[in-house]
Amino acid sequence: MKASHLKIEDLHVAIDGKEILKGVNLEIKGGEIHAVMGPNGTGKSTLASALMGHPTYEVTSGSVTLDGEDVLEMEVNERAQAGMFLAMQYPSEISGVTNSDFLRSAINSRREEGDEISLMKFIRQLDAQMGLLEMPGEMAHRYLNEGFSGGEKKRNEILQMTMLKPAIAILDEIDSGLDIDALKVVAKGVNEMRSPEFGCLIITHYQRLLNYIEPDFIHIMMGGKIVMSGGKELAHRLEAEGYDWVKKELGIEEVEIETKA
Ligand SMILES: Nc1ncnc2c1ncn2[C@@H]1O[C@H](COP(=O)(O)OP(=O)(O)OP(=O)(O)O)[C@@H](O)[C@H]1O
Ligand SMILES: [Mg+2]
Repeated sequence: MKASHLKIEDLHVAIDGKEILKGVNLEIKGGEIHAVMGPNGTGKSTLASALMGHPTYEVTSGSVTLDGEDVLEMEVNERAQAGMFLAMQYPSEISGVTNSDFLRSAINSRREEGDEISLMKFIRQLDAQMGLLEMPGEMAHRYLNEGFSGGEKKRNEILQMTMLKPAIAILDEIDSGLDIDALKVVAKGVNEMRSPEFGCLIITHYQRLLNYIEPDFIHIMMGGKIVMSGGKELAHRLEAEGYDWVKKELGIEEVEIETKA
């Protein structure tokens, strides 16, 4: 069975020697959907990038394991092979590589040599998933994200997720820039993935997405730490009241929020 138990313990991450994450603890098990919310610049995307092994983000201490395997020891491609997936807040455009070629090689890179997916099977799956996500077929043949609208890029990230079937998906602001219909489509893609072999971390600013994807847990990140965890009622309270009450509740006058000096 595929791995799907991600455990993050006391994770500290620095960028250019400056500490951004200051001890993050989070456990995501198969079947669970977690949402992380928090003010701008508190380290949510930093957490996502560090988990995927982006070289800019230096893990200074702590541990991350996927079904007991040390993720921090793995190269970026090994993390993907182990079943980790990141939908980026700002997906990159790759000219000269079609969406379809990209997806096929991504799928094959997770399979043994000699066990590559057949072209027929790939096309069948791609057609089915693009249908589910209500994407026009021609998008398969366009260069990856090139000239895609903001919402099309987000939908395309979800297409990658549904095709790659990761064990753990981290979705960084997958809802930003989506129109209402696209929001529902993206949610449908995530909900289709729900299974005991799939765990999901959704980073979002708005409760709205969580109307369509029901999270099991919500975590609030402030100043590079998860300062509060609870159920979906937390998202409703944040939407209504912002973040000030969190500080009051925790008895913190000022949470140090890192901004570029
Ligand atoms: N590559 C980088 N180089 C320099 N500073 C960075 C880099 N990535 C992140 N930072 C800094 O780290 C801090 C946390 O950024 P991060 O992108 O993780 O925030 P975030 O919580 O995702 O915010 P948002 O809600 O705006 O997306 C910010 O102060 C940011 O400027
Ligand atoms: Mg971010």
